[in-house]
Amino acid sequence: MIRYVSTKGGTDPVNFDDAILAGFAADGGLFVPERIPLIKAETLNSWRGLGYTDLAFNILSLYIDKTIIPADHLKNMIRKSYETFESPEVIPLVKFNNEENMYIMELFRGPTLSFKDVAMGLLMNLLDYLLKKRDLRLSILLATTGDTGPAAARAAAGKKHIDCYPIFPLGMISLEQQRQMTSVQADNIHPIGVLNCKDGGDDIDKVVARMIGDPKLSKKFSLSTVNSINWCRIMIQSVHYFYAYLQTVKAPHGKVAFSVPSGAFGNLFAGTLAREMGLPVERFICATNNNQTLHMAISQGKFLKKDLIETFSSAMDIVVPYNFWRYLYFSCGKNGAKIKLWMEEFKNTGQLNLDSQTHHNIKRGIDSLSVNDSITARTIQQSFNTPGGYLLDPHTAVAVSAALELRNKLPNNCPLVCMATAHPAKFPELMKRILGFKDKLPPEARHQSIENDRNTKENLISCKYSALESTLVKQMSAWFKKGRPTSQPAIKI
Ligand SMILES: Cc1ncc(COP(=O)(O)O)c(C=O)c1O
Repeated sequence: MIRYVSTKGGTDPVNFDDAILAGFAADGGLFVPERIPLIKAETLNSWRGLGYTDLAFNILSLYIDKTIIPADHLKNMIRKSYETFESPEVIPLVKFNNEENMYIMELFRGPTLSFKDVAMGLLMNLLDYLLKKRDLRLSILLATTGDTGPAAARAAAGKKHIDCYPIFPLGMISLEQQRQMTSVQADNIHPIGVLNCKDGGDDIDKVVARMIGDPKLSKKFSLSTVNSINWCRIMIQSVHYFYAYLQTVKAPHGKVAFSVPSGAFGNLFAGTLAREMGLPVERFICATNNNQTLHMAISQGKFLKKDLIETFSSAMDIVVPYNFWRYLYFSCGKNGAKIKLWMEEFKNTGQLNLDSQTHHNIKRGIDSLSVNDSITARTIQQSFNTPGGYLLDPHTAVAVSAALELRNKLPNNCPLVCMATAHPAKFPELMKRILGFKDKLPPEARHQSIENDRNTKENLISCKYSALESTLVKQMSAWFKKGRPTSQPAIKI
């Protein structure tokens, strides 16, 4: 059975259920598996032709022991989680215009139109199942830059064992993303908009981490989180890399390349996990916007905290990509003590110069590029203006821009898959500006679910950043007084 340890090395190994219920490890590190399961080439080949849900079952069963979730329950939960996706293929792969060997993997066909739906629906179903078994209830605190919050709010709505608090920087996400959270009519969903967040979602992350790390608060309110700090999100996201490979590579020794629009490095870390599991990956492209922390770390070995820059791809406006710690953990020989020291140094000085061996390891098979807003806009315009051209959202456009720039490094005939992480309908005002439309956008830029949200009453609490912790405590206490949740902690703390 695979057990889970902390990137900071300070905890005993725990089982899958304890790792995903807790979110963070008790020493403030991130959970990682003690060993990564290997998939042999014959096994991978035997999976050709499987649909997304069957493939997901095969991969996820390697991490989830049958004694924790029996196979038929897992299978059912996977099936149920993707029933709400609008495409029968779940995450369809399409050719990118008439560019040779370039593909778009549409990860945004779920209920809230972003790639976060791919892992969130299943994670919430798994959590609810495990909590029901333990007769417990969890309060989920979740910082969001605009897409995780909606995915969590929809996926958790009405779940008996979960209270969900999506927390976002007010005014720094699109109104459509905000409404995707505040229009959810369920009494276990409590969206909170926060004013004066200088560093956007990163500011909220700090409060969430501090509260979950506080043993008293965590125990009192049974706190956890479901952003990509939660191991389960990473594990589920590794599936789409396998799915893309199986559809694009037919030759026995062929490989695939990926361009991934990156912020907190959750999606791309899942790609590197797939590679460690045996997926034949030629290269990854880590595409960032003008917030260049990841680009600097990969290209120069300098992990630097800089001030937040607001960009068109706002969900990727992230200062500290926390999943990079997971990647560093595996790149420095799983040395938890080293990661602990590095995290401390980074916290105190805002920077870390990686030693040459670690830098060499993190660069292995990964290129990076930072794409500014004018290039992002130009890529959207050029693609849209191509006859029959594809309409990219600003996040996907960052990945496509980087792919177009760096694809000449790939061998001939190597398929290059760009991860499409959001539907353009989530950003109508920006799309109008970029495409030069005054009124109604073309059908590709609209979606009925966004129209529906416009007519629903908003359920929103707002507060200043300085009052976030006290607001959360007040809200959660009110819920506990109502006698809804149990006051028992869901996990050993
Ligand atoms: C639309 C979109 N694209 C890309 C990203 C970046 O993904 P990650 O944080 O996993 O690197 C996000 C994350 O917030 C997102 O919402």
